Amino acid sequence: MSNKDIHEDSFQYTDSDKVEKIFSQYPDKRSATLPLLHLAQTQGGYITSAIINTVAKLTEIHPAEVMDCVSFYTMFYSRQQGTYKLQVCQTLSCSLNGADDIVDHITQKYGTQPGETTSDGKFTLLKVECLGSCGTAPVIQINDDYHEGLSIKELDILLDSIP
Ligand code: FES
Repeated sequence: MSNKDIHEDSFQYTDSDKVEKIFSQYPDKRSATLPLLHLAQTQGGYITSAIINTVAKLTEIHPAEVMDCVSFYTMFYSRQQGTYKLQVCQTLSCSLNGADDIVDHITQKYGTQPGETTSDGKFTLLKVECLGSCGTAPVIQINDDYHEGLSIKELDILLDSIP
């Protein structure tokens, strides 16, 4: 995404009531940046230059500041993700309990490196930081659901059960 891109295009939220509700919760417009990005990503699947431009206008901050938020927070995606996001925790407890083996297994199973999406658009493999469930490591989050303490065999059964 170039600096030129972020000055072009605009994004249309489909639910203006939700946008208004977000703004009603923050006395300072710029504080609405993250929830506005989240709402837009929920609608559009990933953060585009049009979304950055629109959020910048709505919050009255520079598009570069919005881009900073997008690049800082791993929950924001700058390209299309698979239907299922396989988010493997890489932080200490999970790392010590086989997270790398899980990543390697998924990589071999689907031929997809971390950050990539399978050619059928079904899975995106992501390495993420602590998911806050360190006592049940290793942890993999698939979309909104946590799966904890899985062996490779159990992981295979889980992945193969996804339609
Ligand atoms: S280290 Fe993986 S959930 Fe905390």
